Amino acid sequence: MKFEIINQPLDQIQADLTLVFVIDKNLKHKFIKDEKEFDFFGFDGSGSVLIQKTKTLYIGIENLDYEELRLGACKAFEAVKSLNIKSIKLASYLSKCQKMSFQSIVEGFILGSYEFNKYKKEKKESKLQNIIFSTQEELNDETIDVNKAELGLKNGQIIANATNFTKNIVNEIPEIYTPIKMANDAKNLAKELKNVTCEVYDEEFLKKENMNAFLAVNRASVHPPRLIHMIYKPQNAKKRVIFVGKGLTYDSGGLSLKPADYMVTMKADKSGAAAALGIIKGASELELDIEVHAILGATENMIGGNAYKPDDVIMSREGVSIEVKNTDAEGRLVLADCLSWAQDFKPDILIDMATLTGACVVGLGEYTSGIMGNNEELKEDFRKKISKSGELTTIFHFNKHLKELIKTPIADVCNISSSRYGGAITAGLFLDKFIRDENKQKWMHQDIAGPAYVQKAWGYNQHGASGAGVRMNLYYLNEIAKEA
Ligand code: BES
Ligand code: ZN
Ligand code: ZN
Repeated sequence: MKFEIINQPLDQIQADLTLVFVIDKNLKHKFIKDEKEFDFFGFDGSGSVLIQKTKTLYIGIENLDYEELRLGACKAFEAVKSLNIKSIKLASYLSKCQKMSFQSIVEGFILGSYEFNKYKKEKKESKLQNIIFSTQEELNDETIDVNKAELGLKNGQIIANATNFTKNIVNEIPEIYTPIKMANDAKNLAKELKNVTCEVYDEEFLKKENMNAFLAVNRASVHPPRLIHMIYKPQNAKKRVIFVGKGLTYDSGGLSLKPADYMVTMKADKSGAAAALGIIKGASELELDIEVHAILGATENMIGGNAYKPDDVIMSREGVSIEVKNTDAEGRLVLADCLSWAQDFKPDILIDMATLTGACVVGLGEYTSGIMGNNEELKEDFRKKISKSGELTTIFHFNKHLKELIKTPIADVCNISSSRYGGAITAGLFLDKFIRDENKQKWMHQDIAGPAYVQKAWGYNQHGASGAGVRMNLYYLNEIAKEA
């Protein structure tokens, strides 16, 4: 899809279809006078109407918020995707920030048009190629600053394409998407991008580094593990932000095997690592003045004669011993060693992203990520800076009582809690055990288990991977680049 802005009134622009956003709940009644003139598409409260005669598509939105613009653009895409429409024109719709208004609509079109159809014989590809904005402003009578609009179009494309890039990784099947495949993708990505390098480390290196928790999780897999380290390093970096991603290319649960119904979708347990790759792509293409690292722990969690076991005690890279009571709490083991490695690179901000706990999904639902950490201001500030991104988050607060629950007489920490409640937070508190004192205030944990994989389509998210974590963290980086 190509996006452009033309400095002309809407009616002087050539296109197959005119798109009009309408803030009106009674959209249907307003436009339907002669039934024969219309086609209808998915009435769902706000609704949408296509008028054949004038080739005008009316899409109802609730207001001009950025998220409504994204949803409206996605609905427009869905309405025309099976039609022979190659180009759409629309006026400018301004919310508070001009740049963000254009950016949101572009994001809505690109995110909404994503499809993972690699394994389908019949691929229904849309014919839509061009989206043309007119500088004619529809609702506020404001003058459009074309430079701001162009920047919005550019950023929207970068951020949405980075998200779709992550979706492709997460959606790929576990037979193909092994740790080695992830490492190859990372190396290829580094070749394509400006100012990006990639180093890949194998199991010999992990042994040398005492990354025994990471290695234990990998032991019963026929696919060797990989520690992947990408760095985007622009010339005048103002800050160093390090992302650590859980890259479980498959999580069977290990010897604490998952029940059949719960194992399905566990190809998506690599979502944290995949998001970190998307963030590197986005940061480089946006040319942010921030040094960004992605450290990915890629492995499978499988069963076999040499599998690690409940009752094992593992010495982690950080020198903290871990009693294993459940091999399905494997993500935190991989992250423990990766967070240890990450801290050697002296981050200003350290963020881990992981599909870490089912408890997070129980607590927050499937649409929201859990944000944890020791620094209240950092978490609040993060939420403020990502408020326009469309991703949903909630802060889960640590407390000293929950901290008691991961204590064990056998080792420094246990990999599961002694209680069945509060599992998202106790997982976060487990990770905290591996954060050095000097980094306690710099670290944030993002549990993306809910939104990372969509079982029932919602908003502009199709069934399958959503690319959770990519957009919010790129919005965050973009904001801190401004103030740094
Ligand atoms: N990958 C899962 C968490 C998960 C569950 C992600 C559902 C997405 C959807 C993780 O490795 C896991 O199995 N966690 C266990 C931890 C438990 C054994 C303490 C869980 O949440 O049940
Ligand atoms: Zn697990
Ligand atoms: Zn897992």
